[in-house]
Parts: sequence; structure tokens; C-alpha cells
Amino acid sequence: MELLLTVICGVITLISLVLFFVWNRLRYWKLRQIPHDEPLMFLGNMRPNTHQSTPMNQLYKKYKGTGPFCGLYFFMTPAVLTLDLDLVKKVLIKDFTNFSDRGFFSNQVDDPLSAHLLTLDGKGWRLLRNKLSPTFTSKQMKFMFPSVVEVGHRFVKTLSEIIGEQNSELIEIKDLNARFTTDVIGSCAFGLECNSLTDPNAEFRKYGRLIFEEQNHHALILGFMQSSPKLARLLRMRMTRRDVEKFFMEAVRGTVEYREKNNIRKNDFMSLLIDLKNNKPIYSEDGKQVDTSGLTMEELAAQAFLFWVAGFETSSSTMTYAIYELARNTDIQDKLRQSINEVLEKHDGELTYESLKEMHYFDQVFDETLRFYPIVPFLQRIAASDYSSTSDPKYKIEKGSLIFIPVEAIHYDPEIYPNPCTFDPERFSSEEKAKRDTVAYLPFGEGPRNCVGLRFGKMQAIIGLVSLIRNFKFSWCEETPTKLQYDPAQILLATRHGIHLKVEKV
Ligand code: HEM
Ligand SMILES: *[C@@H]1O[C@H](CO)[C@@H](O)[C@H](O)[C@H]1NC(C)=O
Repeated sequence: MELLLTVICGVITLISLVLFFVWNRLRYWKLRQIPHDEPLMFLGNMRPNTHQSTPMNQLYKKYKGTGPFCGLYFFMTPAVLTLDLDLVKKVLIKDFTNFSDRGFFSNQVDDPLSAHLLTLDGKGWRLLRNKLSPTFTSKQMKFMFPSVVEVGHRFVKTLSEIIGEQNSELIEIKDLNARFTTDVIGSCAFGLECNSLTDPNAEFRKYGRLIFEEQNHHALILGFMQSSPKLARLLRMRMTRRDVEKFFMEAVRGTVEYREKNNIRKNDFMSLLIDLKNNKPIYSEDGKQVDTSGLTMEELAAQAFLFWVAGFETSSSTMTYAIYELARNTDIQDKLRQSINEVLEKHDGELTYESLKEMHYFDQVFDETLRFYPIVPFLQRIAASDYSSTSDPKYKIEKGSLIFIPVEAIHYDPEIYPNPCTFDPERFSSEEKAKRDTVAYLPFGEGPRNCVGLRFGKMQAIIGLVSLIRNFKFSWCEETPTKLQYDPAQILLATRHGIHLKVEKV
């Protein structure tokens, strides 16, 4: 009897403690008198079946003008949501050393593929960034350019075959683009022919689909891992699916062994990673030797995995959104085709590395696409120390705080982009661009921790899009969704469904 009583008392105490802890956390912003919305238990300001960027957009709209930031409950974690570009610039650029961490989940022990440049923090990140930056120089891009163009030719061939003898055909563009970028990354990162353009169920595409479309966890568990990465690591949770890990480790190991055995050196990511593993000297863009202290096989695999994961979905989504908008705005499409042809005529009809630099109108369309559809809709940082964002002590950011920069909200702020819901490449003419703050446009992030693959992502998207627009005309049809729905289970802005369009040969 007495034992039972003790157990009951113990359980009650424990429950009360947890409840107190939770309750206390969820009045964090109230105690500090920072504008915020009341949180729900466990969800905070997040909502099931709603994309994570949606509440951020709403809070930004509601509280902009009240101060440098407002409060946000990212599930159970109080977070800072920046409201003015001044603070954004400080966090990303000016005071970068106070905000160099991202606080993403990674677990090197139980989930080796999760520990890569995107997720690592502190010294580990800095060392790795220095080692990997030489992989993405313009010289390196020039080396890889022909391989990407080659895949572009196959892309055009595949689509021509689909259309066949008919004049026009209904196609689903999202999967097609993903197959293109999968083959590009396969060839540039691994020196492999993935062949997913010819075979839609090729293994690399199959596993790529699994990573994004059938994640390891339910959206709420994913939210927990995002908002409490340390606890998740303690609980030995994993982000990567086992089948993906197995497939991927074998693919990388096989490639590395084959290349080392046969002394094969190519101008691709894999060879650079192998050089790092074998302590070969590596040089940065300005010719300085980079401090390298080798890379283990697991670390090599994790970086290759990152190139693959960060490389194909982001770029293929960008291409998909661009085509969707060009098919809606056929006047812009026609103008783009004409300007592409004008540039290419000067280069004997060949898509060369130099010709890309002259495609100014293409750049405008590309930039507007990523304003309209910022694939990464918010950026994340962690405060390394207490940080006074203004002279008002109320706006002190506490050490360890999570900080969100609402990229999508900024891209749709009518004070920065008038009529934000209109797709208009003229916003990115050089005159218009010069009028805006640099951090008013953040599709690739900013500062020392921006997207390291920016050049490559842009290069493969340009080559894919130019190949398509030169040869085909796209337009909306009955099956085309008039409004795109984002998949709430994903962190990136990915459409929930495929996008069907009418395609004709030019
Ligand atoms: C259109 C395509 C792409 C978009 C829109 C994009 C966007 C982004 C964004 C917004 C970030 C976070 C930046 C920040 O926090 O300030 C990022 C980081 C990163 N991206 Fe990309 N990305 C693209 C393509 C690629 C490609 C092709 C690769 C590699 C092959 C890549 C590799 C990375 C890596 C490694 C990071 C982490 C960098 C670090 O933490 O040091 N990305 N990307
Ligand atoms: C940034 O961090 C440094 C060192 O931790 C600290 O001394 C400094 O006050 C911080 N900056 C601001 C503006 O709070």
C-alpha cells in the first residue's frame, strides 16, 4: 500500500515537473514582452498540415514595424523571427561570428550520412567549409560544364521521344526535371551514368524520391528533431532512412575503390573528395593552399550525400517553377526564347560556358523565379552568445536562441517588392536591383554560410532550362493546377502534386 502511494506521488511529481517546464517555456516571449502569438501545447505556433513557413509569413506581416524581431514558438522552442533587414544583415553578415551555427540535427555516430556541411556547426563546420570550397570555384564549374551540357542533350532527346510524331503532348514536368538533375549530379559528383532520364525507375532516382517524398519520420517527429536536435541526438534518433544509407554507402565505396584501384582522375566532385581523403594539396580560388587534414571514408560519403541531396531537388524544383510560370506567361517565354537564340547565334548556336554570362534576360527570369518560389523558405541560425540587437534591453537575444530569417515573407513584402504576387522579371533589371538592399533577396542565403553550391545549382538549372526553352514550347492545359500547393511534410518548398503541362516542339 505504502509502495503504491510512493509510486503514485512520484508519477504525479514527474508529470507536474514536465508540465511546469513546458508551461514555463511557452511563456518565454510573454515574460520578455516581445510581440508574439499565443502558442499551442507541443505545436507552438506551428500547425499540422501547414507548411512551416506559413506561420512565419503571418507573424512577419502582423508584427513588422514593432521592432527588430518578434517571438515565434517553433514547436516547443522559443525562437527569434527577424522583422527588419538591418537585423538580417547583422545576423548573416556583419556579426557572423555571433551567429555561425545553424543548430540543425546531425548524429555522426548513429547516422553518419547526417553529418555534413549543412548540418555541422562550430569548428567542424569551419574546417569542412574550407576544405570543400575549392570544389565550387568557377574554374571547377568550367571543367564540369561539358558533362552537364551532355546531360542537357539527353534531356532534349528524352522529351522529343515522349512527344514522338504528335505535334503536342501532355507531360508531367516535375519528375522529368528531377530525372535531369539526378543525372547531372550522378555524372558530376560520382562520374556515374545514372540514366534516370531513359529509365524513370533508375536506382538513383528511386532513392532520391524516397528521401524527399517518403521521409523517415512523420512531420511532427521531424519538427521535434529540428527544434530539439540535442535531445534527438541523445535519444539516438536518425534522419536518414536505412535503405537510403545502405544504397548510398555502397555506391560511394564502390566508386572510390574503383577509382583508386584504376588510378582514375576526373574533373568532378568525387575526385576532389578523394584528394581530400588522401591528403593531396588543395587550392582555393585565390591560389592559396587550403589547410586540409584529410577526410575519413564516412565523412567523404556524407559530403557526397549532401551534394546529391542538396543538389538535385533544389535545382530541379527551381526549373519546375520557372517552366510553370513561363507556361502561364507565354509572352515572357517568347521573349526569353528570342533572347536565348540571340545570344547563342553569337556563339555558333553552341551553348558554351562563355555564352551563359551573356544571358541577362535569362538571369532575370531565374532570379524572379526564386523570389516567387524561394525553395528554402527560411534561414536558420543560433546565437553563440548573448546579443544586443538594439539599445533596448528588451531586445536582447539570449545565448543559444534559435533565429529564423523569413525569406519567403521578405520576398513577398509589398514595401520591398510592389505587387509581390505578380511574376515580373523586370524586377531584376540592373537598375531595379541596385535600388534594393542586398539582403532583400535571399534564395541562397548570405554571408560566410551561404549556399556553397550556388554556382553549380545555377549552372545546371540554366543548362536544363535553356535546352528546354530552345526546343520546346510550354503552355497550361486543363490538367495544370492553377494554384500550387506546397507539401507541408517537407522543409523545402516542394509541390504536393506533379505539374502537367502541354508541350510542343518549337
Ligand atoms: C537552385 C538551387 C539551390 C538553392 C536555391 C540553394 C539554397 C540554399 C540555401 C538557402 C542555403 C542556406 C544558406 C544560409 O543559411 O545562409 C544553402 C546551403 C547549402 N547548399 Fe544550396 N542551394 C541550391 C543548390 C545547391 C547545390 C547544387 C549544392 C551542392 C552541390 C548545394 C549545397 C549546399 C550546401 C553544402 C549548403 C550548406 C553550406 C554551409 O552551411 O556552409 N546547394 N543552399
Ligand atoms: C558578439 O559576441 C561577442 C563575443 O562572444 C560579444 O562580446 C559581443 O558582445 C557580441 N555582439 C553583440 C552585438 O552583442
